[in-house]
Amino acid sequence: MKKNILSVEGIRYSHKNASGVQNVLKGIDAEFESGKIYAIVGESGSGKTTFLSLLSALDKIQEGDIAYNNKSLKKIGSSEFRLKYVNIVFQSYNLIKYMTARENVQVAIDFDKRKVNPDKYLAQVGLTEEEGGRLVNKLSGGQQQRVAIARAIASNSPIIVADEPTGNLDEDTEEKIIEIFKELAHEQNKIVIIVTHSRRVAAHADEVLHLRRGTISR
Ligand SMILES: Nc1ncnc2c1ncn2[C@@H]1O[C@H](COP(=O)(O)OP(=O)(O)O)[C@@H](O)[C@H]1O
Ligand SMILES: [Mg+2]
Repeated sequence: MKKNILSVEGIRYSHKNASGVQNVLKGIDAEFESGKIYAIVGESGSGKTTFLSLLSALDKIQEGDIAYNNKSLKKIGSSEFRLKYVNIVFQSYNLIKYMTARENVQVAIDFDKRKVNPDKYLAQVGLTEEEGGRLVNKLSGGQQQRVAIARAIASNSPIIVADEPTGNLDEDTEEKIIEIFKELAHEQNKIVIIVTHSRRVAAHADEVLHLRRGTISR
């Protein structure tokens, strides 16, 4: 299988807030390859979400570069990158509230003009047909999280990033989600990057990266 590489070089990032400028990322170098699951761990406030938002082109790179198969994200363009390369499971789900669970997943499928049944992905994350037909704000936090995961796996993108995707889930569901991420990486040859506090998720990752004091280490 072709090996795809997402590489990160010399990434520095600072946030400006009321108390001034905060240097959050102070020189990150990392390489993520397809076929593997990466867990990123680190204390709250260490910059994990900031790093993911750069990896998924939601925030603009200030210093350094990110490249996919040697092509710079600056060259690919942020919107193109978000549309075709990366799919994100947000901490806050980011579902479309006036749609049902099924319609939220359908959006990801329609994007690639494929003909697959969204219920297939809802079933994979343990949601029933009845739950699929509910508006997402009629679902619990854990169920909404599973819809967000279903939407990400329904998409065709080669990179999946997830910000604490099992944070609101019970152990059994967490196991199920871990299995899905494993299949995405190991069978479908995607790059899977998960920020997590869960020891269990980290234990299943192929590589665990620690974010501390603005740098990343194994
Ligand atoms: N949009 C923002 N504006 C200003 N400061 C921010 C913003 N987002 C995050 N920060 C600050 O940057 C630091 C890292 O935040 P974050 O990346 O969310 O960490 P983590 O996800 O590891 O908890 C925190 O101190 C946070 O307060
Ligand atoms: Mg965070």
